[in-house]
Amino acid sequence: MHATSRTITTNQLGPHKDLARRVERALRHPLRKPVAAHTREAFANCLSWRARQDANGARPLILDAGCGVGLSTRRLAERYPDHAVIGVDRSAARLSRDHGAIADNALLVRADLVDFWRLALEAGWQPARHYLLYPNPYPKSARLKLRWHGHPVFPVLLALGGRLELRSNWRLYLEEFALALAQATGVTATVEPHAPGTNCLTPFETKYHGSGQSLWRLVATLPHAPDLVPAATEGEA
Ligand SMILES: C[S@@+](CC[C@H](N)C(=O)[O-])C[C@H]1O[C@@H](n2cnc3c(N)ncnc32)[C@H](O)[C@@H]1O
Repeated sequence: MHATSRTITTNQLGPHKDLARRVERALRHPLRKPVAAHTREAFANCLSWRARQDANGARPLILDAGCGVGLSTRRLAERYPDHAVIGVDRSAARLSRDHGAIADNALLVRADLVDFWRLALEAGWQPARHYLLYPNPYPKSARLKLRWHGHPVFPVLLALGGRLELRSNWRLYLEEFALALAQATGVTATVEPHAPGTNCLTPFETKYHGSGQSLWRLVATLPHAPDLVPAATEGEA
């Protein structure tokens, strides 16, 4: 089967000129957005689910951030049966699509990652693996702040630590992420071609790969580093 999907078009010629400034800002100024009630509730459900999974807290955690319909969450749970796998997406419509049974070690959650990641860090979560598979690319230059590496939550995402893997059909997204990662943590990561063959992990991967688009991936192993996140000082909280 041959799928068709549009390639990314952007008005950027290279990494965004404001990237370093945005990262610096995120590292200096705490994110003040209040946590939404629905994500707080979703996170509380995750805490009880994890406690039921594993009373000793020893089962390693995998986060599938922006899991869409949750196919990757299902597949990761099968691939890592000794891990607890949580897929998070803000779209109730995507999460509610029926993609078959889900293993006991997997959970799909509707939540906003901007809040979910902060609650996870606050709770001391340290994912063993953290996936960001085909995040929304926001390719227009003016939308840098919506890309994860241009967003104020970026330090929180890194602070959780673990083996972080991003995949995208837009190489520049990953190149920018690598620059931002090096700036924030000193960790260098390379952007490499990704050839899934017949083992696509997500619907977006299947769609892009089936259209003959080049796919890219970045993997970084990060320490758990809560200190990366700027503390709210008086008057800023
Ligand atoms: C391009 S889709 C990729 C979905 C899936 N990972 C895949 O590869 O098929 C990006 C997903 O990220 C989710 N997303 C974007 N921003 C989010 C946020 N702030 N919180 C939770 N999910 C978010 C969207 O709802 C969407 O399902």
